[in-house]
Formats: sequence, C-alpha cells, structure tokens
Amino acid sequence: MKILSVLSTKGGVGKSTISANLAVALQLSGHQVLAIDLDPQNGLGYHFSLDLDNDTGLVHASSQPESLAASIRRTASGLSLIPYGVYSETQRIAFESILAQQPHWLRDTLYGLNLDPNVIVVLDTPPGASVYMMQALSAATEVVAVVLPDAGSYVTLPQLLNLIETYSSHQPHFRDYGVIINQMNQTRLLSKDVANVLRSTFANRLIGTVHYDQAISEALAFGQSVFEYAPHSEAAHDILNCAKGIIDRLATDGYVVS
Ligand SMILES: Nc1ncnc2c1ncn2[C@@H]1O[C@H](COP(=O)(O)OP(=O)(O)OP(=O)(O)O)[C@@H](O)[C@H]1O
Ligand SMILES: [Mg+2]
Repeated sequence: MKILSVLSTKGGVGKSTISANLAVALQLSGHQVLAIDLDPQNGLGYHFSLDLDNDTGLVHASSQPESLAASIRRTASGLSLIPYGVYSETQRIAFESILAQQPHWLRDTLYGLNLDPNVIVVLDTPPGASVYMMQALSAATEVVAVVLPDAGSYVTLPQLLNLIETYSSHQPHFRDYGVIINQMNQTRLLSKDVANVLRSTFANRLIGTVHYDQAISEALAFGQSVFEYAPHSEAAHDILNCAKGIIDRLATDGYVVS
C-alpha cells in the first residue's frame, strides 16, 4: 500500500479538488485506488455526488474499528472512497482526542484493512496543522503539497516543510514529498514568476502544474470528476500528468505497477 497525503498549510488551495481528480486519474492509469476524506468538511464526496450515510465513515471507526471496511463506498465512476462521515460534535471531539493520543492511528488502521499491496491511498486533509495533518504526515509514503503560484501560498511552504521534517521524515515507509502547483494562470505575470521560483526551488520534487480551468469548478457543481465532466479539458490533461509524475516517483522506490 502506498499512501499519498495531500496537504497544504493554507486553506482553499485545491487539496480536495486535486485529491478527488488525482484519485480518478490514478485509477484511469490502471491503478487500484482508495480515496479517503480525513477532513470534517466532508468535501471529497461532493466531487462524486456521494450521499453520506449516518453511521459510516472514518469518524466512526475509532469507536467501531470493524466498521471501517464497511465504510468503503463505490462512486458512480467506480472509485472506492471512505468519507469522513456524518457526526455530532461529541463524536468529532472523541475522534480528534483519539487521533491526538495515538499518533499512528490512521496508519495502523489502514494497514489493518489488509488491502492489496498495490493499492494507492489518496488522503484529503483539512488545511493547516491539526491532528488530521499529523496523522496524514505520519502515515504518508509520499506527501503531495498543493501550492498556488502566489506570494501568500509561497510564504507558508516553510511551515509545511518543517512539519514534514518533524512527522514524516523519520518514518520507515516515508519516501519523499512532492509539490503540485495549482491554479496556474499563464496570463498573470506574478503567477508565472512565482511558479518559476517554485520550479527552481523544488526542481525534481515538482510533480506537476495544474492550470486554472473553469472546467474544475463546473465539474464540482455537477458532482463529477473533471474526467467525466470535461475529459478533454486542460485540467484533465494536467492532472493525468500529475498522476504519471507520482507513479514515476513511486517507481523509483520499487513500486510495482498493478
Ligand atoms: N485548477 C483549478 N482551476 C479552477 N478552480 C479550481 C482549481 N483548483 C481548485 N479550484 C476551485 O477552488 C476552490 C477551492 O478548492 P478546494 O475545495 O479543492 O480547496 P481545498 O484546499 O480543499 O480547501 P480547504 O482548505 O477548505 O479544504 C473550489 O471552488 C475549486 O473548484
Ligand atoms: Mg478541502
């Protein structure tokens, strides 16, 4: 099992969008994928028009670990997805308290599912440092940092690199981190300048660039991945390239394509 943790310190940069569409792109490229929503916003399922059940989802797995396998949902496009789940405040607080007390809960729980070794897990996370981010960092094979080509996003990157150093880098299963530049706008000089700085700073850690594309937000409005809504769009092409970049990176670590 390979775990891709999609992270950013800044909110609204496109983590859920990238997680949902990258999961589909990896599946379209022939891989087995399990997408997991580790964010109480429950936003990942929106990309697939997924209705939420009351008692299933990650938030319930801490009190009923055996329920997690049953929480795996199949989207209309055939993607396997575990939602965060519908919760009361009491349930959310209890879950977060377990995550705080057991730093490897997510990793241990995922390995306990005994999934096929070739499965790629894509974890969507809430922004900023939280128990969710710590869990995603300690479980990650590869951290996928999503960043906008703007100054506000750029200045938060050192915080994320510090967190990777603290929580991921010493884990035996951790491979590396990579960066996806999202919402690239070729017509804006600042966008191009910051993207160039990011490319030279991260060099071969740059997984890919996803252009700003209205097809992305329209696809979400229709509850579809961009591959269903606009398979020939620039964004679909960009995200497929990111999926290829990730597979190449995992291959250097001996990952065998399924
Ligand atoms: N490449 C893109 N082109 C156009 N719109 C985009 C692109 N990427 C993301 N968006 C839009 O940006 C908004 C925020 O995206 P998203 O919800 O994925 O961010 P997030 O990082 O998951 O947010 P949060 O930090 O709240 O979890 C959405 O409306 C989404 O449709
Ligand atoms: Mg999100």
